[in-house]
Amino acid sequence: MNNEPTSPALDVRDLRVSAGPLEILRGVSFELKPGERLGVVGESGSGKSITALSIMGLLDPPARVTSGSVMLGDTDLLGLSRRDLNRVRGRRLAMIYQDPGSALNPLMTIGNQIVEAIRLHEPVSVAEARLRAADLLGEVGIANPKSRLNDYPHEFSGGMRQRVMIAMALSCNPEVLICDEPTTALDVTTQARVISLIDRVCSERGVAAILITHDMGVAAGFCDSIAVMYAGQLVEKASTEVFYATPRHPYSRALLGATLDLQSEITGELPVIPGSPPSPQEFDFACSFRHRCSFARPECAAQSIELRPFMESEVRCIRAEDVEREVVAAASVQVEPVRVSASAPVSEERS
Ligand SMILES: Nc1ncnc2c1ncn2[C@@H]1O[C@H](COP(=O)(O)OP(=O)(O)O)[C@@H](O)[C@H]1O
Ligand SMILES: [Mg+2]
Repeated sequence: MNNEPTSPALDVRDLRVSAGPLEILRGVSFELKPGERLGVVGESGSGKSITALSIMGLLDPPARVTSGSVMLGDTDLLGLSRRDLNRVRGRRLAMIYQDPGSALNPLMTIGNQIVEAIRLHEPVSVAEARLRAADLLGEVGIANPKSRLNDYPHEFSGGMRQRVMIAMALSCNPEVLICDEPTTALDVTTQARVISLIDRVCSERGVAAILITHDMGVAAGFCDSIAVMYAGQLVEKASTEVFYATPRHPYSRALLGATLDLQSEITGELPVIPGSPPSPQEFDFACSFRHRCSFARPECAAQSIELRPFMESEVRCIRAEDVEREVVAAASVQVEPVRVSASAPVSEERS
């Protein structure tokens, strides 16, 4: 019998990013197994997009990767030339952005853009690529795909444009799909449809995914595991099941505790936690959450604090044992996972 663990689809180790003198990403590590879905959650400014863009090789200067490694299978992405990286992007690695408008060319028909994306990576004829483009539009739930190939981005609604982005991302069968708040710009009903669509295409194609989201319910329904970011670091990692049953970092508890209060509103936004996260100018070696943390003690300011295994989780908190003791009596947090049924209808929006 072969008991060898499968090698990860994506392996990010100690990734660090600086912008000028400021370190904005401070040693992020995680693994994504083939077909796995990782949710990355955390307040605005915590470094989620910087993480995604670093993996894609698409950081805007002055931000740049200063150390760490990003392995896509056996390929060291940080070591690739621009040309080789372009080849990997789209063929093996694709990203869906928050604002589909920014990633589509307003002056080009959707069909020509998908055809171009396909032909960049594969030596197929225009006719063949158009057939495939129409198939992809059909797959993402766009009605009359053949004729819609001739439309421009502005002729699609926000939700439909996001579907077009997903079709483009899938056009070359990526191994890993990074979705950076893919539904934030959409209304709630459309959000649910787009997440169901991403869920379906990832399942059908066995694509591993990173879902960056503000919505703890969506993360619960879509992801196998959860990583919580705070001030340019991961502060907790756990399986989805463990995370929602027993969030262990005080910040995770705050996120989920406050999600409870917001449930009736279903805004999809992260809850408001009193105080604000430190900016990169204020980062220091000690705990970044200590100023907002009801568990903080002087020792939290006095030492550097690593992400460490604790129970079934990994947590960056020296008081995790005490937190666990205090909260174990309290009822565990209940977040209703948003159902992302793969069989949900996907083609009911108007364009
Ligand atoms: N190109 C850049 N140059 C310098 N600083 C940046 C750049 N992009 C983002 N930052 C800073 O990095 C931090 C993390 O940003 P980001 O990853 O976009 O956060 P989010 O978690 O909201 O996606 C923020 O403090 C932001 O101001
Ligand atoms: Mg972001």
